[in-house]
Amino acid sequence: MSVAGLLIGTSTKMNLTSSEAERYLGTLRQLVEDVVDCDLFVLPPFTSIWVAREQLAGSNVAWGAQDVHPDEAGAHTGDVSAAMLADLGCRYVEVGHAERRRDYGESDALIAAKTKAVLRHRMIPILCVGEPTEGDSEAAVRFVLRQLGGSLAGISGADRSRLVVAYEPVWAIGAGARPAHPDRVAAVHAGIHAWLRSPDGGGAGARVIYGGSVDPSTAGTLLARAGVDGLFVGRAALDPAHFAAIARAGQEHARLGPIGSRMAS
Ligand code: 13P
Repeated sequence: MSVAGLLIGTSTKMNLTSSEAERYLGTLRQLVEDVVDCDLFVLPPFTSIWVAREQLAGSNVAWGAQDVHPDEAGAHTGDVSAAMLADLGCRYVEVGHAERRRDYGESDALIAAKTKAVLRHRMIPILCVGEPTEGDSEAAVRFVLRQLGGSLAGISGADRSRLVVAYEPVWAIGAGARPAHPDRVAAVHAGIHAWLRSPDGGGAGARVIYGGSVDPSTAGTLLARAGVDGLFVGRAALDPAHFAAIARAGQEHARLGPIGSRMAS
């Protein structure tokens, strides 16, 4: 696997039983086995992470989790710790997805605590940010930088550089939505990269990926934009052939050059 290449992944959200996940991951593994020039991941629900470990061990697809509790252990009924996820071989852990902010009122402070827990266990946080409504891109940049500042409070520069930031405009996610325009995605990613490189951001080198209604027809155009270091796919990836098509678009763009030459200025 490349160290900091393009990153293409999916969260299956609250879809697929463990039996369905077994079939899905078995098929996916075969379909993407030749995609070696970009990093791939799948985040199943907690109930299927062991299935991912069985189906994906030794493959070019990493696995991870969609959420985590900030504490190490203890009386937190129904929750799952970072140690438990690390023990299952998780490489990535998503924090702060818009659906969790919406359904559970997750604050930036809580998301910062979750991010720290993931880092403590040497996994890679995928920190989701995104504006709630489609205003102009300058307003979107201001919004996501506020979220990032809050969600990274108390996290060192070295740790920030290991992050993946997922720009997921809330209005572009889910059934009935449409992806953000590639110009807007490029503008917001440029704003995030610039902040990460600044003394305030202190996370130069972190990858910034886009999520929100990505499908095989839009993946190539989005990946072609400077500063787009990968894609985070929801619905479309529930069809393994579609995930494979998006991964192949990643492979094609990865071969265009190292990530540094694609960075937004
Ligand atoms: P959709 O691709 O279904 O819009 O979901 C995107 C997402 O939330 C990925 O985390």
